[in-house]
Amino acid sequence: MPSEKITNMTTISINLEGSRAYDILIGRDNLDTIGTKLKALNIGESIFIITDSKVAGLYAKRLVGIFRKSGFRDIGLAKFPGGEKSKNIKTYTGVLTGLAKFDGGLNKRILVVNLGGGVPGDVGGFVAATFNRGVNYVQIPTTLLANVDSGIGGKVGIDFHNIKNKVGSFYQPKLVFVDLSLLKTLNLKEIRAGLAEVVKYGVIADPSLLEYVEGHVKDILALNLDVIKPVVEKSYRLKAGIVEQDERDTKGIRMVLNYGHTIGHAVESAAGFKYSHGESVSIGMVCANDLACELGIFSRAEAERIEILLSKIGLPVKIAHGKLADIIRFLKYDKKSVDGGNRFVLPVKFGKTEIKSALSPALIKKVIKKRMV
Ligand SMILES: NC(=O)c1ccc[n+]([C@@H]2O[C@H](COP(=O)([O-])OP(=O)(O)OC[C@H]3O[C@@H](n4cnc5c(N)ncnc54)[C@H](O)[C@@H]3O)[C@@H](O)[C@H]2O)c1
Repeated sequence: MPSEKITNMTTISINLEGSRAYDILIGRDNLDTIGTKLKALNIGESIFIITDSKVAGLYAKRLVGIFRKSGFRDIGLAKFPGGEKSKNIKTYTGVLTGLAKFDGGLNKRILVVNLGGGVPGDVGGFVAATFNRGVNYVQIPTTLLANVDSGIGGKVGIDFHNIKNKVGSFYQPKLVFVDLSLLKTLNLKEIRAGLAEVVKYGVIADPSLLEYVEGHVKDILALNLDVIKPVVEKSYRLKAGIVEQDERDTKGIRMVLNYGHTIGHAVESAAGFKYSHGESVSIGMVCANDLACELGIFSRAEAERIEILLSKIGLPVKIAHGKLADIIRFLKYDKKSVDGGNRFVLPVKFGKTEIKSALSPALIKKVIKKRMV
């Protein structure tokens, strides 16, 4: 019988054109209901789970049991070592090989189920986008970062030659299914990393979210799910609203999500992925704020408020890994550059940003150098 918690699931709909629209279900202790939900959606019969080894060890057996109980008979699984270093072409081809074997050339009604954080989500989504020119997939995000950001929006892909997300596609899932209780096994470092993206949403779109995090850092880090649920819902709602307006990132609207990511991605690559994505975004945000302050479009007081919050969360605001020359080199490869010139999303005030291009290389270098230890 469904418990009270299960009936308390929140639904957020992403209203995209035609069959690309989908629901995000957010609940707690609700994983047991995913099998019946997928059956009802009728989006595939042969389930192929894509996950990393750690998440597989924690949740794969249970998930397979739930699917079997709901009547799915044909279930396969591919797993790979966790973390950003796996988000590459070798993992992608490995997973594809597993999926091709599972399919056996029969063109089964495959449903890919991505179980994990942003890495299995992005890799698995790209596998789903490209296998047989596209099969259905759903996301079961299991990190805070994936529960506030990467789980939705349909940007899928892999890093290539260490350049972040260089190869990929836009391919929307059919469902995003959140069971917040799966976060209970996350370590502190990963909770902190997820909060970096929440701070991003607060700065670019909703100062009240920033205030909420400021007031609840301790509870969030202690994984108080009652406190975390509104953070997940608000972040996903903000992202859903942005994705609906600019699904393929062509109108300059979705680009706002890149606040902190231009220098952040370069730091992530230059540091050889010693910083997690969330940690890199934290560094990228303080660098973007410094740029905005130098340009005189953002107040030092607001920049300091963000820096204090990031430090309180336990995220880095200085660069201790990677060389300046490498960061500058990776900046040149940023996907959002146009004709070799970087475009930065910079804050103007809380809730408002501007896109700035043609910044002087000397200024960019100065700002990054000041953050290096
Ligand atoms: N597609 C998008 O729109 C989008 C948006 C933001 C970030 N991203 C991408 O997301 C990635 C980062 O995501 P991430 O931080 O979730 O990384 P991740 O998937 O590597 O997960 C981080 C670590 O947490 C572990 N983990 C996952 N769930 C767990 C659980 N419930 N309990 C215990 N351990 C668990 C994993 O094994 C891994 O070691 C980056 O590659 C980034 O580029 C994509």
